[in-house]
Amino acid sequence: MKKIGLFYSFNSNKTRHIAEKIAAEFAVNEIEKVNAETMTDQEFLSFDNYILGVPTWFDGELPNYWDEFVPALEDLDLAGKTFALFGLGDQKNYPENFSDGLGIMADILEKCGADIIGETPLEGYSFESSAAQKNNSFIGLILDQENQPRLTEERIKKWTNNVRLKFK
Ligand SMILES: Cc1cc2nc3c(=O)[nH]c(=O)nc-3n(C[C@H](O)[C@H](O)[C@H](O)COP(=O)(O)O)c2cc1C
Repeated sequence: MKKIGLFYSFNSNKTRHIAEKIAAEFAVNEIEKVNAETMTDQEFLSFDNYILGVPTWFDGELPNYWDEFVPALEDLDLAGKTFALFGLGDQKNYPENFSDGLGIMADILEKCGADIIGETPLEGYSFESSAAQKNNSFIGLILDQENQPRLTEERIKKWTNNVRLKFK
């Protein structure tokens, strides 16, 4: 397996905490952490395997740091690159926009030619609508630290075991 680029905001406490747990599931030389707030296009393009941390802010939007990268991202050719996405959301307070950011990011990556892996079942979550829902699954791993923190550990382990097999 080629090295995974793990992109997330080093300044987002909850996402950073989850990203560190995900990184711990891989050997040190299998994964490299990159701060999504300060990365360059070149850094972003320098991997074949990616894990992106994408929480949802502003009632169904991407956080600022990802949103600011979108214009550059839309111009990139990501054909042949493989992405697994994880996101944080709050199903109780935002049931109509639950983890929408993850779905927004997935749509952009797909338009750039990326392969997306790591979908997860909807079971165990309660929400009305989510842009992260594609057919009968979520397009990535969704964690709800506000309402289901005790499920996080097991969700991470299952998901990382699954994506590990699919990265090239
Ligand atoms: C102002 C605000 C808006 C939010 N909007 C949403 C939302 O639309 N959908 C959702 O699922 N979660 C939403 N959340 C919950 C966050 O995604 C959740 O708290 C997440 O853990 C934040 O992670 P971070 O601190 O690493 O950015 C919102 C939180 C805040 C404070």
